[in-house]
Amino acid sequence: MPQAPQKFSDPVEEHRALHETESRIAIAGHPLHAMLVAFPIALAMSVLGADLLYWWTGDAFWTRAAGWAAFGAFLMGVIAGITGTVELLAVRGIRNRSASWTHFILAVMLLSVLGANWAIRIGDHEAAVLPLGLLMSVFAAGLTAVTGWHGGKLVFDYQIGTKMPEHGD
Ligand code: HEM
Repeated sequence: MPQAPQKFSDPVEEHRALHETESRIAIAGHPLHAMLVAFPIALAMSVLGADLLYWWTGDAFWTRAAGWAAFGAFLMGVIAGITGTVELLAVRGIRNRSASWTHFILAVMLLSVLGANWAIRIGDHEAAVLPLGLLMSVFAAGLTAVTGWHGGKLVFDYQIGTKMPEHGD
C-alpha cells in the first residue's frame, strides 16, 4: 500500500511573530547598523593598504597611518557590533534565525582580530608591521569581506532587518 507523503512543517513559516524582522535600532526606518558597518569595513581595508605601501616604499608615515586606521577599525567595529547585537536580541524574527547567529559569531571573531591588529601597533608601530602586522591585516581584510558579505546575505537573501510584506500585500 503506497505511503501517504509526509508533511513537514517550517516553524519560522508557520509562526507569524517570526515574520517580524524589521530593524528597531534605526532612524526613520533606516538601520543604524547598516550605516555604521561601512566604517570598520573601509578602515580594515585601509590598514592593509597602508601596510602594503610601507612594505613597498619603506616610508614610516604609512605605519602611523596604519596604526590610526587599525584603531578606527576596531572602535567603529565595536560600535557597529553593539547596534547589531541590540538588534539581534531585541527583534524576535532576527534572533530566531540561525543565519543571524552565524553573522554574530563571524563578527565577534572579526572584532577580536581588529583589536589584536591595533594592539600589536601600540608603542613601536613601525617594527610591528613586517611581518606580523601585514599578515594580521591580510587576515582581518579577508574576515571583513566574509562578515560583510554574510551581513548582506542576511538582508538581501533572508530579508533580515527589513519589513516583511503582510500576506496579501
Ligand atoms: C558584533 C555583532 C554583530 C551583530 C549581532 C550583527 C547583526 C546584524 C544584523 C541583525 C543585520 C541585519 C540588518 C539589521 O538588522 O540592521 C546585519 C547586517 C549587516 N552586518 Fe552585521 N552584525 C554585527 C557586526 C558586524 C560587523 C563587525 C560588520 C562589519 C564587517 C557587519 C557587517 C554587516 C553588513 C555589511 C550588513 C548588511 C547591511 C545592509 O546591507 O543593509 N556586522 N548585521
